[in-house]
Amino acid sequence: MEQMKRTTNCGALRKQDAGKTVTLNGWVHRKRDHGGISFINLRDRYGITQVVVDEGAPPELSALVGELRNEYCIAAEGKVRSRPEEMVNPDMATGEIEVVLDRLVILNRAEALPFQIDDADGVKEELRLKYRYLDLRSPGMQRRIRLRHEVSFAVREWMTSQGFYEIETPTFIKSTPEGARDYLVPSRLYPGKFYALPQSPQLYKQILMVGGFDKYFQIARCYRDEDARGDRQPEFTQIDIEMAFVSRDDIVALTEGLFGYVFKKCLNRDIPARFTRLSYEEAMEWYGTDKPDLRFDMKIRDFAPYVGSGGFQAFKDALAAGEADRQAGAAKGIALVGGGVKALVAPGKADYSRKQIEELESHAKIYRAKGLAWMKVTGTTETPGLEGGIAKFFAETAQDIVKGLEAKPGDLILIIADSRRKVANSALGAVRSKLGRDLGLCDPNQFAFVWILDFPLFEFNEEEHRWEAAHHMFSYPQEQYHSILEQDPGSVKGDLYDLVLNGYEQASGSIRIHDPELQKRIFKIVGIDPAEAEKKFGFLTEAFKFGAPPHGGIAPGLDRLVMLMAGETSIKEVIPFPKNSFAVSLMDDSPSEVEQKQLDELHLAVVPPTKES
Ligand code: AMO
Repeated sequence: MEQMKRTTNCGALRKQDAGKTVTLNGWVHRKRDHGGISFINLRDRYGITQVVVDEGAPPELSALVGELRNEYCIAAEGKVRSRPEEMVNPDMATGEIEVVLDRLVILNRAEALPFQIDDADGVKEELRLKYRYLDLRSPGMQRRIRLRHEVSFAVREWMTSQGFYEIETPTFIKSTPEGARDYLVPSRLYPGKFYALPQSPQLYKQILMVGGFDKYFQIARCYRDEDARGDRQPEFTQIDIEMAFVSRDDIVALTEGLFGYVFKKCLNRDIPARFTRLSYEEAMEWYGTDKPDLRFDMKIRDFAPYVGSGGFQAFKDALAAGEADRQAGAAKGIALVGGGVKALVAPGKADYSRKQIEELESHAKIYRAKGLAWMKVTGTTETPGLEGGIAKFFAETAQDIVKGLEAKPGDLILIIADSRRKVANSALGAVRSKLGRDLGLCDPNQFAFVWILDFPLFEFNEEEHRWEAAHHMFSYPQEQYHSILEQDPGSVKGDLYDLVLNGYEQASGSIRIHDPELQKRIFKIVGIDPAEAEKKFGFLTEAFKFGAPPHGGIAPGLDRLVMLMAGETSIKEVIPFPKNSFAVSLMDDSPSEVEQKQLDELHLAVVPPTKES
């Protein structure tokens, strides 16, 4: 190898290098034979260079070239020459030159390939994951992993410039409550005891604030035993941030600065210095979700004002049933919002066929809608009318409706009514998202950031009939609600915030509780008794007894960020070695069985699953 070590890489040579003797190391990307001349496209991380074997090449060299197949790893020595004008390839950075081969060493052969490297994008995911090392050679994966590195580096630059320290927290920890299942690590030394892998460094970063570090960040690995989806992996990475002596607006501003820096540095894109802000309630009422995609507007409107004067009974029934539930809830001290009739205007879609509308209806039903009513806007801007679907029930108020919903002739109005306003909102929100995709409104090159603020602190778990923390139990209830926490948990807003990008939850955070007494009240409301709280996070509450500073933080997901910056819809595209949707790594086949000896050392016995489990 010593003499055939590369002197340059496959992306570097230009016209002015003509005449130089160089050695390239890389992979055979393609080989073409034209009569007596062979062309080898040699590829490495930096690019592709064309290597030529001329007709007059010595027979041994030609024989060795004859052996080459795609993805053979080779060393090639030769002289750089300019290509004739008509042979210049403007699509290749090295397209002005070629290297005339003098010496060739096959560093390693490759077996028949399961897929062609530059075709990796069209290849079945299972194959790509099984042969990930080949997939990683594809230009797309190379570009995305590079972007991931650049983003991590830019994050470290920005955070350091703002006075933050990157501090590591342990990955063998006491189980922290973040809502998902923990991955457990059995202790060999303490039979029956387990470490947990962190779902996030949450408690440790708070303790770092008690430890006086003031501004912490970490590009942190997190582990959650939950079902994988397009934007979720069991093992993922967060840009974890915590600050002391701050308010919500400080963290919001810091995060905007961070994203502005990262987008400019890595994509040369200017994003707004200040992102749009919506309250949780606005997001739910206008977009039916706390993760609205604001690349397109299409706000959900309230149709309830038109229900009374129309003759459509189902809408009236939904509102009446919602009101009855609200009153019953109020009698039990549970604040319910009642029913809702909500409308969405699909611009210019009056030409949708019945089949297309039925498709939207089926989609709405996945989100528990009972149906999807519709009407088409006809007539002129001055005298609009309504036709089709349920239009006949609203003949008298047609003009008011069109005006009120800001619809135009040629638009399609879609309506969902439900005794639970939340269902009407979220099902119509799902229809809105589908329309956005169907109508091509989700441009991957556009970045729409929005803060969702003022989340409720608690959510009512209807199945278990108890209050739960909406984010986690350490989030600070806004000051004005402290006196009514126990009486009316449903109306309490927390100092918690999400950052949403193109319909994905990109980051989540909160101001934390630093007062042990307030923390006890929250534990009590969510049904954690003092003994359990002491056992689970006594170390945190203990730390808070020693002059804990007010503090708060946030954690953007790195994988999701890079995914969106790369214009992708699956985080697997930006993770070098992801698991598949069943939490399996197809390349190394983990999880796998271990030897009995290992189990014995860990004092573990495997109970084979029964049918029920
Ligand atoms: P949260 O649980 O909302 O908050 O996570 C923060 C961000 O991490 C990303 N994320 C994920 N990415 C990929 N796969 C997953 N399974 C996954 N789960 C979460 C998302 C999400 O917005 N400790 C708190 C943060 C805080 O309060 O400071 C936390 O972990 O982008």
